Amino acid sequence: MSILTIHSEGEFQPFEYYTDPLEIAARLRRIQTLFERWPLCPELTQNAEQDAILAAYANSVRRLRERYGFQSADVIAITPDHPDRDALRRKFLAEHTHSDFEVRFFVDGRGLFYLHPDAKVYAVLCEAGDLISVPAGTKHWFDAGEQPNLKVIRLFTTPEGWVANYTGSDIADRFPKLEEYLERMK
Ligand SMILES: [Fe+2]
Repeated sequence: MSILTIHSEGEFQPFEYYTDPLEIAARLRRIQTLFERWPLCPELTQNAEQDAILAAYANSVRRLRERYGFQSADVIAITPDHPDRDALRRKFLAEHTHSDFEVRFFVDGRGLFYLHPDAKVYAVLCEAGDLISVPAGTKHWFDAGEQPNLKVIRLFTTPEGWVANYTGSDIADRFPKLEEYLERMK
């Protein structure tokens, strides 16, 4: 189940909580963040390669490319036995911005985005079928968890792909990681 919770910068206790995808989308629209649910392609197997995944979601990917001018798309998969899982996790865990949109469609698994566009922190638990687009320049971080399991389509408008500008803030350390977030949302 996808979840959006909204927090003050200094405290985790959320003061807004949404699980209805339409409500999540409407609330995130107010911070210029796109959230959509796409129907999953059940014919894709667990071991489907990048080309098969991009082909399965070609219509939705094309629609976003036309709307936002994305130049390239790829698929990234992180599994609990990925040799670089800890290094990959740390790369996304500190607050950063991009000069490009950060667009992710969750083909499988889940991950926790924290957006920090203003004096509030927006936690978005994304699951398979969720599309999220973090606007350029919006501070954010992301946790895939200690046992990462996710497969996402990424879309880029620049040839450089994923380039992070770290803010140097330690705010991410003060918010729960994925496992603790799930525990606290029970
Ligand atoms: Fe990012």
